Amino acid sequence: MTAIFESAANPEISDAGMHLQNHTAIITGAASGLGEATLRRFVGKGANAMILDVNDEGGAALMEELGNRVRFTHADVADEAAVSAAVDATVAAFGGVHILVNCGGSAAGPPRRTVGRDGPYPLPEFAEYIRSYLIGTFNTTRLAAHAMSGNDADGDGERGVVINTASVAAQDGQIGQAAYAAAKAGVTGMTLPLARDLAVLGVRVMTISPGFFDTPRGIATPENIRESLIAQTPFPTRPGIPDEFAHLAQAIVRDTCSQLVEVQSCNHQFSSGVMYQLSMYPFASFVLTPVGLSKNEAT
Ligand SMILES: NC(=O)c1ccc[n+]([C@@H]2O[C@H](COP(=O)([O-])OP(=O)(O)OC[C@H]3O[C@@H](n4cnc5c(N)ncnc54)[C@H](O)[C@@H]3O)[C@@H](O)[C@H]2O)c1
Repeated sequence: MTAIFESAANPEISDAGMHLQNHTAIITGAASGLGEATLRRFVGKGANAMILDVNDEGGAALMEELGNRVRFTHADVADEAAVSAAVDATVAAFGGVHILVNCGGSAAGPPRRTVGRDGPYPLPEFAEYIRSYLIGTFNTTRLAAHAMSGNDADGDGERGVVINTASVAAQDGQIGQAAYAAAKAGVTGMTLPLARDLAVLGVRVMTISPGFFDTPRGIATPENIRESLIAQTPFPTRPGIPDEFAHLAQAIVRDTCSQLVEVQSCNHQFSSGVMYQLSMYPFASFVLTPVGLSKNEAT
């Protein structure tokens, strides 16, 4: 599957899109998990990076480890002033922003049924899921894309790339996941209008909907739930490895998809441990969503 990402058969395609070398990424949630893997891969490929996270200890340790092409700003993704300051700090440190990867956000509470033993689902908890995952993603996207609009365009007219992170739960939420699924469905739902809005600026918008990944959060999942999630993964039947997410993010940065027109509903299997339904839209956007079928349904 690796060959897909490297487009080895067609050097023209593999060279399309934005290069990581000497370009600058803001990666939210980069102090852990999928964001950290993306940070490590992007910096390893020559990018500058701003860690935008609320985890001061993790952010500072990574900045120390990865050297002077990495900075850290403490910011809550849904905080307008803090994200605006982080974008300004990125431009001041590296001269611009070319890539935004949205991995930041956190669960406001454990999975709960809409009506449980303790009564109805607490509304503040629902609101916090939406604030953190959905409002946070929109907030960072609008502010980073505004900064990207000042970049010089490349030969395709491209100035930037935004990569959002949704979840299988956007289409296939489980019992107790109403709040999380609603927030993530919001992220997938806004991907196409965001891509259409920002195409005029030369900014592409993509959303990756991961299945189950072995991040610190995934590893901490109770064993019975973990086993059930892994068992539902058609092939390979294992959790995704965070660098597989990062590899896909890298491929999205590099591939403008400008040669692809309305290829919809192609079943496509990536190396990240889940089977994806891949929808591609003209030029600006494609949405990667796992099929989320059980093994039986998939056959
Ligand atoms: N791990 C999985 O199996 C999985 C599956 C599907 C989707 N996802 C999604 O991927 C993203 C990353 O998940 P992960 O597993 O890497 O999680 P993680 O907990 O390992 O990392 C999340 C990072 O986000 C930071 N963060 C939390 N709230 C924040 C906020 N308000 N502002 C800024 N930073 C904040 C945390 O400090 C942490 O560093 C999340 O959106 C998650 O919903 C994960």
